[in-house]
Amino acid sequence: MIEIDARHERIALPLAEALRGVEAIFESQIASEFPAVESLARHVARYRGKMLRPTLTLLSGLAAARGDLAVLKRDDLQRLAAVVEMIHMATLVHDDVLDEADDRRGGATVNRLNGNETAVMLGDYLISNAFHLSATIGDADLTERLGRVTNTLCEGELVQLHHRDDLGLDFPTYLEIVRRKTAVLVGACGRLGARMVGADEAVAEALGTFGERLGIAFQVRDDILDLEGDPEVVGKTVGRDLAKGKLTLPMILLLDGADAATFGAAVEAFRARNAEGVLRLLQTGDAIERSLEFAVSQVRVGTEAIGGCDFGDTGDLLRDLADAVVDRDR
Ligand code: IPE
Ligand code: IPE
Ligand code: MG
Ligand code: MG
Repeated sequence: MIEIDARHERIALPLAEALRGVEAIFESQIASEFPAVESLARHVARYRGKMLRPTLTLLSGLAAARGDLAVLKRDDLQRLAAVVEMIHMATLVHDDVLDEADDRRGGATVNRLNGNETAVMLGDYLISNAFHLSATIGDADLTERLGRVTNTLCEGELVQLHHRDDLGLDFPTYLEIVRRKTAVLVGACGRLGARMVGADEAVAEALGTFGERLGIAFQVRDDILDLEGDPEVVGKTVGRDLAKGKLTLPMILLLDGADAATFGAAVEAFRARNAEGVLRLLQTGDAIERSLEFAVSQVRVGTEAIGGCDFGDTGDLLRDLADAVVDRDR
């Protein structure tokens, strides 16, 4: 869970209660009469992540409703929050197959426990349930928008796969991959959470941009953690980007400004999947710092997007959430 600062006392408890409601909806949606399916459903429901996406959905609804805590209890808003988390989880279950990752959220991945075939089908089960649950909200436009989000997300993952081992991957292409595979879903949490409570277009747009920029910053931080994070703290297998030939921002910046010797050494370490060698080169220069600075700049742009909205204490909480996206070790 994302830590909520004690300064946000008014919102913290109702938000925690709403998130429990979201979890209950999530669990009942994916429950199955078949013990084999039920035990898998219980496995994914048991390992909770940070709940960034449902939290942002609920807070965007709250912000757009001018801080009226009653909206957090709304069943449609909680269902939407469960849908976005379910979409996210489906992508993680499939992503762990692609990345051949063993650990996730401090536990074993489905592919490690039950193999790739089960993980592929379970990911399908989750995405199918996400759209089934979305349809129960009874807003066809909402489901259409979510469908567009998941189309974009898959395109991002496919473009990323296309660029495997591409040492010429440039910054604009990296950014477009990140925007599609991660940020568009986080943006939808802001935009759709606000729309659900009847926000006007400008407010929904502001929260959508806020979420999207947070999503970019979030993925950049994740990419840094994959290079230098402690797996015990991060709670998932690290080093998978290099192992799978994925070039991420620190490496792109390193190659971009490198002299011939550093460039050659970096290419050699990358091709050899030499994690220590890559990290040493990255830490010799300032590529990681510059990547972090980029993430911070995205948070700033996101925060500016909601700067003109009067969200009261919910705005303060949203700004804290934005900082926490970069300032984290897990
Ligand atoms: C992991 O997302 C996938 C990325 C987009 C980097 P999170 O780090 O939000 O995963 P959980 O939900 O907290 O486990
Ligand atoms: C996956 O990116 C992003 C998705 C949208 C699934 P990563 O491969 O970096 O995610 P983690 O690090 O495994 O969580
Ligand atoms: Mg992965
Ligand atoms: Mg990662």
